[in-house]
Amino acid sequence: MTHQRLYINIDHVATLRQARRAPYPDPVAAARLCEEAGADGITAHLREDRRHIQDADVVALAAGARTPFNLEMACTAEMVGIALRCKPYQVTLVPEKREEITTEGGLDLRHDPARVRATVERLRDGGIRTSLFIDPDREQVELARALDVAAIELHTGTYCERPDDPATLAALEQAAAHAASLGLAVHAGHGLTVENVGPVASITMCEELNIGHSIVARAVFVGLSEAVRDMRAAMDRARAR
Ligand code: PXP
Repeated sequence: MTHQRLYINIDHVATLRQARRAPYPDPVAAARLCEEAGADGITAHLREDRRHIQDADVVALAAGARTPFNLEMACTAEMVGIALRCKPYQVTLVPEKREEITTEGGLDLRHDPARVRATVERLRDGGIRTSLFIDPDREQVELARALDVAAIELHTGTYCERPDDPATLAALEQAAAHAASLGLAVHAGHGLTVENVGPVASITMCEELNIGHSIVARAVFVGLSEAVRDMRAAMDRARAR
């Protein structure tokens, strides 16, 4: 099976820094370690409330990451302006609610597709590839295709909450197959851990995983490099089967 890219989401390195408003730990230094340990790319989410990643981090990551930088952001004029100034390799558009602890679901492309389309076009004019974070749902996949994006990222949260329910994995497999048949690049992520990543890593059409929280949490015990290598190994084991 082809290599599946591992993008490490380093938001929670910044969470630790913001807990004390300290100058450390530095997300760019963390990105370097992840890259040296085998990450194929770096992801960060600039939230509107700036709870972890800050504007300066996005500037520093866009300039300092040695692998492609994927900026997760809401579909707002402010964020589009930041993306066009920083020029990440890729933007992943996500829904955002201020009260949520983390992203709770995918974008609902039935609502206001014109706004998403305008954003995708502005990013494309700026030379930035766009991915849309959506639930593993046939209609959402088709709506994404109609918006002419390069990629979709399937929300794995429901699978991670109920990994033993075959329907949650089947939804991801079916959405991935459908998206790939329509010519979309397929990414996935949210809530993945060394323990639950295997079945998602095994989805042949899934080219890229975005994983953050469990890796940064595990880094407390084993260090960031080993946490990245452990995830890489779990993905490779699943794809070798
Ligand atoms: N993908 C998207 C679109 C996300 O919003 C997030 C969390 O910011 C992730 C992947 C990574 O999720 P986790 O931190 O649970 O691994």
